[in-house]
Amino acid sequence: MSNGKIKKIGVLTSGGDSQGMNAAVRAVVRHGIANGLEVYGIYEGYKGLVDGGEKIRKFTAADVANIVGRGGTTIYSARLVGFREEWAMQQGIRNARELGIDGLVTIGGDGTFRGAYDLCMRGFPCIGIPGSIDNDITCTDRTIGFDTATNITVRCIDSLRDTDESHMRCNVIEAMGRNAGYIALYAGIACGATGIVIKEDLGYSEDSLLEKIRAARLHGKRNIMVVVSEGVEGYSEKLAGTIQEKTGIETKFARLAHIVRGGSPTAEDRLLATRMGTAAVDMLIAGEQNKFVCLRDNRIVGVDIQYAIMNDNLYKARFTPAVRAKLTDESKSRFSKEQLDEMEALCDLRENEIKDLLRIADTTSTY
Ligand code: F6P
Repeated sequence: MSNGKIKKIGVLTSGGDSQGMNAAVRAVVRHGIANGLEVYGIYEGYKGLVDGGEKIRKFTAADVANIVGRGGTTIYSARLVGFREEWAMQQGIRNARELGIDGLVTIGGDGTFRGAYDLCMRGFPCIGIPGSIDNDITCTDRTIGFDTATNITVRCIDSLRDTDESHMRCNVIEAMGRNAGYIALYAGIACGATGIVIKEDLGYSEDSLLEKIRAARLHGKRNIMVVVSEGVEGYSEKLAGTIQEKTGIETKFARLAHIVRGGSPTAEDRLLATRMGTAAVDMLIAGEQNKFVCLRDNRIVGVDIQYAIMNDNLYKARFTPAVRAKLTDESKSRFSKEQLDEMEALCDLRENEIKDLLRIADTTSTY
C-alpha cells in the first residue's frame, strides 16, 4: 500500500510507440489504484503534460479495460522537441502539481528518459519504463515491443520468402531499428537469412556477402534473403541493386518500416509490460525516483536514469561516431571508475552477444 507520501501519480507514453505500451499503462493504473493511489493518464506524452487541461485525466480501473492486447498507445504519444526548454518543464510540473500529482511513470525510449531525468532534477519524481521496438536501451535486456516487432518482421520475411522461392529471387529487406540492429539480427536468424547487415557488425564485408550469395545459388538455393537494419543508413536499397548487378540474380527490395510497430502485442511483451508497470508503481510508493525499470537475467531491477543514459552512450559510441563525438571526459567524470568499468562490462556483454549471434547466423546459413 501507499506509504502516505505519494498519493497521486501520472502515466504517459512518449516518443515512438511500441506494442505493449497499453499493457504497461494498464498495469500502472490498476496496480496504482489497488495500492490506494489516484492515477492520471496524460495524453500525448510530455506535450500533454505541458498543455494540461483535458489532456490530464483521472483514470478508473475500468478506463483501461480491454487494452492489454491492443497495439499503439491509447493515451497517444508525441515527440515534443521543445520539452527540454526550461519554461516547458516548469509548466509541466506546475500542471501536475495543481492536480496534486506527485510522481510520474514515463514509458518510452531514450528521449523519454532524458525528459524524466530533467523532471527529477527539478524535484519531480519520475520512473521510466523502456518502451521501444528496437531493444535499443543498453541497461535492459529487453524493451517492451521488441518481441512483437521481431515476430511481425519474421512473418513479413517468411511471406517474401514464399514468393522468392517460386521465382528464384533474392530479396533485401530493411528492418526497423535506428540505433540498434537487434530486430534485423533476431529476425534474420529466425528466417535463415543468407545475409544480415547491422551497424554493430564492424567486420562486415560486402564482397564476402556477394560471394556467399553466389555460393548459395550455385548450390541450388532458390530464395536468398538478406536482412539489413535501418540503422545502416542509406544502404539497404543500394545493396539490392549491387547484388543484382554483381551476381546477376534478380533482386527485390522491401522496406518494412512502421508496419512492424503496430498490431497486437505478443504474450511476452504483455507480460514484460505488466511486470515493469507494476514495478514502476512499487518504486514510486517506496519513495524511489530517477530510476529506470530494467529486465536483467529475468529479474526486474531499477537503475539510476543518469547511469542508464551514460551506459547507453558508452555502448552506442562503439558503433556510432556521432555518439562517440559527444562523449566527453567531463560527462564521464560524474561517475566513479568502478561505475564506468561496470558499464563497459555490460557493453562487452551486449557486444559479445551480438558477435555470437552473427557467428551462428553465418554458420547456419552457409552452403
Ligand atoms: O525507435 C523506434 C523506431 O520505430 C525506429 O525503429 C525508427 O527508426 C523510428 O522509431 C521511427 O520514428 P518515427 O515514428 O518518428 O518515424
